Amino acid sequence: MKFPITRLRRMRATATHRRMVRETSVSVDDLIYPLFAVHGKNLKNEISSMPGVYQLSVDNIVREAKEVSRLGIPAVILFGIPENKDEMGTEAYADKGIIQQAVRGIKDSVPELLVITDVCLCEYTSHGHCGVVKDGVVLNDETLELLAKEAVSHAKAGADIIAPSDMMDGRVSAIRSALDKEGFEHIPILSYAAKYSSAFYGPFREAAESTPQFGDRRSYQMDPANTREAMREVALDIEEGADMVMVKPALPYLDIIRQIKDRWDIPVAAYNVSGEYSMIKAAGRLGWIDESRAMMEVLTSIKRAGADIILTYFAKDAARILQEKNKP
Ligand code: PBG
Repeated sequence: MKFPITRLRRMRATATHRRMVRETSVSVDDLIYPLFAVHGKNLKNEISSMPGVYQLSVDNIVREAKEVSRLGIPAVILFGIPENKDEMGTEAYADKGIIQQAVRGIKDSVPELLVITDVCLCEYTSHGHCGVVKDGVVLNDETLELLAKEAVSHAKAGADIIAPSDMMDGRVSAIRSALDKEGFEHIPILSYAAKYSSAFYGPFREAAESTPQFGDRRSYQMDPANTREAMREVALDIEEGADMVMVKPALPYLDIIRQIKDRWDIPVAAYNVSGEYSMIKAAGRLGWIDESRAMMEVLTSIKRAGADIILTYFAKDAARILQEKNKP
């Protein structure tokens, strides 16, 4: 039944044919929008390497959250820039910390919007590492205690979902038991399960002011060359009680997303990270690429690879395009 009987072009003839047989679609329901919170009032500092992304003071974050919710995006994920950084990342678990304030602000005025908090120490420590450092080494078990404290503090402020991104061993179970002990057994954990040590985080570190002051993150984040190790990370996180697992970054790791999807029946999230955003923005600005088309193609590829949820700085732009498309 070969050519000329079989002609795959028949079903590509018009937009309507294509729409009818399309296998993958991106929906606004799948998107999570990252936000950066800073202390102060009426602040909106654009990140130079991430056009259209800002550090926002709480008043502006609340305004932004309303807009995000109006666009139909179900959730935001919050990152915080503290007033002061110290060795132990104290502001990460302070009741008046920037995330705690931002969560309260959003939940007060846009209660239906899900607020996810990134649980990590790198934004809050003076050395910029994701854990407690002693003699140049990031200590695992000592860090767990602080992460658990941070998670509980976020939950107390009203966070709906807790997302640990530090890559310490055993953090999901440490956070799960701390949450349960404090009466937050209903709060889900979205674990950054397979988080690679990636060059694509560069612009984020400008946004979150979290570049490590010495060394790099390779002793805790994963080696980009590894697949089976990612499966072990996922297996452990699920065993420890993760409700959803994440792969990060997204584009260079589509194969990892697909393998996780095929092996486990758990929601899979993918983080379309800062560098992936900046590349498209930069090429778009130079007129080298059609920004919107490239964006939708990338988001579609992440869905096609198997992601149920996409964390992306493009969430608002994509939501607008999807809204236009769905108009009668
Ligand atoms: C760590 C964290 C990072 C990102 C999210 N959480 C950066 C890192 O590990 O250095 C990166 C997100 C992005 O690049 O968009 N708290």
